[in-house]
Amino acid sequence: MSDEVNTSRRGFLKALIGLSAVAAVGGIGKSAVQSIVTPSVGLSGFPETMLYWIDPASPNSAPVPLKVSQFAVMSPQVWVYYYPLSDEPNFLIKFPDPVPAVPVDIDATGQIFNSPPGVGPNNSLVSFSAICQHLGCIPPIIHYYPPNSISQLPSNVQSSLSAENKKYGVIHCNCHGSTYDPFKGASIITHPTQRPLPNVVLSYNSITDSVFAKKLVGPTVFGHPSDLSGGNSISNLKKTTLINMSSA
Ligand code: FES
Repeated sequence: MSDEVNTSRRGFLKALIGLSAVAAVGGIGKSAVQSIVTPSVGLSGFPETMLYWIDPASPNSAPVPLKVSQFAVMSPQVWVYYYPLSDEPNFLIKFPDPVPAVPVDIDATGQIFNSPPGVGPNNSLVSFSAICQHLGCIPPIIHYYPPNSISQLPSNVQSSLSAENKKYGVIHCNCHGSTYDPFKGASIITHPTQRPLPNVVLSYNSITDSVFAKKLVGPTVFGHPSDLSGGNSISNLKKTTLINMSSA
């Protein structure tokens, strides 16, 4: 991905962050937040897209394929990539233990979907939409809190966490307090969200230690008529580059 594209997306994200923050403070409703997503062509199917990154050890180098073994376990950095549309950011999180597939409840509809298991050398890499399913806030307002950051969460959220939540961390949205369990398919821990985060199905190539996004499962990405429409496709369907939103 070029610097120009990165810059453009950062600008777009900052605009979204500003509007999301205004929505949180000013009580702007769901329809207003949705309206900032410009409907456009979309895609006819999910591409298989390799994840790239700029190796933090070589910050001035070009993006290279991500090596899963080199990706930090429970990183405090907010790692996000866009897939399959350029306004659909997704988290990438690696755990120290294998992540099982589990049934995930969608409170809003009463439906259940099966989360994909973790992938990678330890079956521990997972990915979720980074758009909050309540009113659409995006990173870094919503982000992953590893275990050593749990103390930063509001006390009512901390009191809702299980021992497993505290062991593996949670995804929390600071707009209105929704909390999701990234070790259990981004299922709901605290409301007001009525939907878990959409899950990205990943695949792993053990020979190259690389990872691919293959499709999304679960609820539709917030603010989109479908996961494949409501925005423009990423510029290169063969690759998408991780962005460290902690420093955006
Ligand atoms: S947008 Fe309301 S909790 Fe995230």
